[in-house]
This record gives sequence, C-alpha cells and structure tokens, in this order.
Amino acid sequence: MNSLMNPNFSIHSFFIVITALSLSFLLASCTPAADGSNSLSSSEKLGKALFFDTRLSSPEGQSCASCHHPERGFAHPDTKIATAEGAVKGLFGNRNSPSIAYIKYTPAFHKTIEDGDTLYIGGFFLDGREKTLQAQAIKPMLNPLEMGNKNTSELLKKVIAAGYQPAFDQLFGAASLNNEKIAMQHISQVISDYENSKELSPFNSKYDAHLAGKTQLSKQEQQGLKLFNAEDKGNCAACHPSKIDESTGFPPLFTDYTYDNLGVPSNPDNHFLNNPAIHNPEGIAYRDKGLGDFLKDEKQNGKFKVPTLRNITLTAPYMHNGVFTTLKEVVDFYNTRDTDNKWADAEISENVNTDELGDLKLSDDEVDAIVAFLKTLTDGYQTP
Ligand code: HEC
Ligand code: HEC
Repeated sequence: MNSLMNPNFSIHSFFIVITALSLSFLLASCTPAADGSNSLSSSEKLGKALFFDTRLSSPEGQSCASCHHPERGFAHPDTKIATAEGAVKGLFGNRNSPSIAYIKYTPAFHKTIEDGDTLYIGGFFLDGREKTLQAQAIKPMLNPLEMGNKNTSELLKKVIAAGYQPAFDQLFGAASLNNEKIAMQHISQVISDYENSKELSPFNSKYDAHLAGKTQLSKQEQQGLKLFNAEDKGNCAACHPSKIDESTGFPPLFTDYTYDNLGVPSNPDNHFLNNPAIHNPEGIAYRDKGLGDFLKDEKQNGKFKVPTLRNITLTAPYMHNGVFTTLKEVVDFYNTRDTDNKWADAEISENVNTDELGDLKLSDDEVDAIVAFLKTLTDGYQTP
C-alpha cells in the first residue's frame, strides 16, 4: 500500500504550512489537478484531504485510502491479502475491504415482503448495520482493527494537530471544532460529501461508453453480456442488474442491494482467524454470519449485501472473506458449486441460495466470455 503515491499529498502540505490562510485563498491558489479534484466543492475537497491523511490513525500511517484506494476501484490496493491489517500491526479486520466507488447510490437499509418472505435491502457495510454514509464515515477511525483511535477526543486532537481547523471554520463557521460531538458531525459530513462526489462515481467504463453508443463491445464481450443477462445461463443480472434502473433512472450499478448466501467457502488464509482472543474469541472456528448476526435472525445467517461489479478487475480478492483470487474462479464457482467436489463446504451452510446458482452448465468458453464482459466495467476507459 505504501508504494502507491498519495495523490493528495500536495493539499495536505498546504494545510500544514499555511493554516492561517483562509480556505478560499487556498482553493483559489490551486493549480488544476490532474486527478480532476478541482471540480470538487470545498467540502468535498476537505473530505478528500481527510480521506487520504495517514496522520489521523493511531499509530499514524493509515488512512481511508489505505484500504479504499482510487487506483483499485476504492478497494484495498494489495490484491494478495484477504482482509486488511489495521494501523496496529498484527491486528486484522474480519472482512475483505470492499470497493466503495458508487457508494452514493446505496439506499438506506429497509425491508420489503416478496412471496411471503422478508427481503432486506441496502444499508452500509456488508451486513447493512450502518444506517447512513455519514454515520459510517468516522467508524473506521475509531475501530481498533482499522485506524485505531481510542475515542473521538483522540481523533479530534489529531484533526486539529494536522491543521484542519481553519478549513472547518471556513465551511461551518468560527470555532467549528470546539464541541467534540458537533466536530464529529462536521468531520463525517465532509468525508461523506467526498464519498458522494463525482470522483467516486465517474461512470466512464467501456460498458458506459457502449451504452452511450460511443464504442462497440468485442464479440466475446457481447457474448459475455448476453450470458450475464440470460436467466437460463449466467443469470447474473438477477442480482447484479446491467441495465438502467427504471424506478430511479440511475445507470446500471450491478447490484440490487439485496442480501444472499452464495455458499462461499470459509477462507483459511483470512488472518482475522489468528487475531488475539480479545478481537476474535472463536479463533479458527470463527464463521461470519453477516446479516444474520446484525439482525440476530438465523434465517439471514450467511447473507451478505450484493456488491457492485464496477471496477471488479481491480478489486481482487473476491467475496466477503477474500476466498477467491481471480474472476475466473468466481464464475467457475457460480457454475459448478454443486457439481464439482473441489469446492470446500460453505462457510455458513444455512440459507444457501440453490435456486439461482451452483449448476449453471456453462462451457469453458462461456465462462471466459462472462469474465471478458466483467473486464469492460473498469472506469477510465478511453474511446479509441
Ligand atoms: C483497515 C482497512 C480499512 C480502513 C482503514 C477503512 N476501511 Fe472502510 N471498510 C473496510 C472493510 C473491511 C469494510 C467492510 C466492513 C464490514 O462490512 O463490516 C469497509 C466498509 C466501508 C464502507 C461501506 C461499504 C458498503 O458497501 O457499505 C464505507 C463507506 C467505508 N468503508 C468507508 C471508509 C472510510 C470513509 C474510511 C476512513 C475514515 C475507511 N473506510 C477506512 C476496510 C477499511
Ligand atoms: C442470487 C444473487 C446473485 C447472483 C444470481 C449472482 N451474484 Fe454475484 N454476488 C452476490 C452476492 C450476495 C455476492 C457477495 C457474496 C459474499 O461476499 O459472500 C456476490 C459477489 C460477486 C462477486 C465478487 C464481488 C466482490 O467485490 O468481491 C463477483 C465477481 C460476482 N458476484 C459476479 C457474479 C457473476 C458473474 C454472476 C453470474 C454468473 C453472479 N455474480 C450472480 C449475489 C449474486
């Protein structure tokens, strides 16, 4: 993670050096940034500075971007590890750091009744336990397995020591960080404003260019798209919609924000299993119940929120526990979970979805075509 340059370094240095100057002067003095951040509002810019600032963890050295890096679809930059190490060395989180690109479109946690069954939709984290993006924003800073600040007062001290007070005062009025509780609201506000900015939702993949009629998909990519959509083939679009959402008018986000247990095997390489007992009392017997644990409802055990597939080639490893390392392996799993005994048992054997996946009868070429299609979902595509 350290090998990746922090694209916002220059903005941090500005804050340290000229904290006495007003934010408006600061913003006016910026030369156009190659990353397009000049189109951000002052609040989004401040949120971005915090998002990339490694001085805000305890010990120092980790920022949000350490686990949600822009060059990796805002997922963890190290594709070799299942779950991330926190600011404190040797302590690991229990889940694979997800892509938070397009997070803006996540609906609030809610339920509907479909065919007599309760269906849960939306919410933040892989189990939906956080209600709003703003409420989520400072949680990682206080998580002992992530950025490790002991409490909000330690965090606030760091934000002030890093020279952000003038920028906050400029946005929210004088003494904006004086009251700890209100300061936390301001901090989470600017971070979530950045997460909601265009920078995290560019919609500029090859597939978007194709939808806009600006480029053609290759034969193999087209075949992959067909298989992805076909109910009697991949049936992927049943949970990862590939068309414009008619009710919201949003471009395809490749998730319907519902929850499912795919029967994903547990991952023995998840370092969380070896965490000290105070952070993982169950040791290697730990199993992640996902939504079921949050709702304390066994019928939801093993279910996780359907993730977006945008930028999926950049965000390996895959699934909540990072058990799969390649896209081919993922599609192979959907295809042969129930027919090939090479797959280990499900991490949670209850509530496994056997209706829509497990035996898709796809040929090798069809699996490859779906993977080729998934590769068209990476942002930053240049039309030839
Ligand atoms: C050590 C790695 C790590 C750091 C640092 C980190 N995150 Fe995360 N983030 C994760 C993991 C792992 C999850 C999934 C956790 C879960 O589902 O319980 C996650 C989930 C999220 C989500 C919810 C995604 C969804 O689909 O609902 C958002 C938003 C988010 N992080 C934003 C942030 C912000 C903002 C920061 C900095 C303040 C941050 N993260 C710092 C690892 C990290
Ligand atoms: C029944 C709903 C459903 C269907 C159908 C479905 N998926 Fe998924 N998909 C999910 C859920 C839920 C997850 C997350 C599961 C987890 O982490 O345990 C997921 C995860 C993934 C991931 C990993 C994403 C990540 O960020 O780790 C990929 C890739 C993927 N699906 C591709 C596909 C493809 C390709 C198909 C069709 C062959 C498909 N999915 C069909 C629900 C579905």
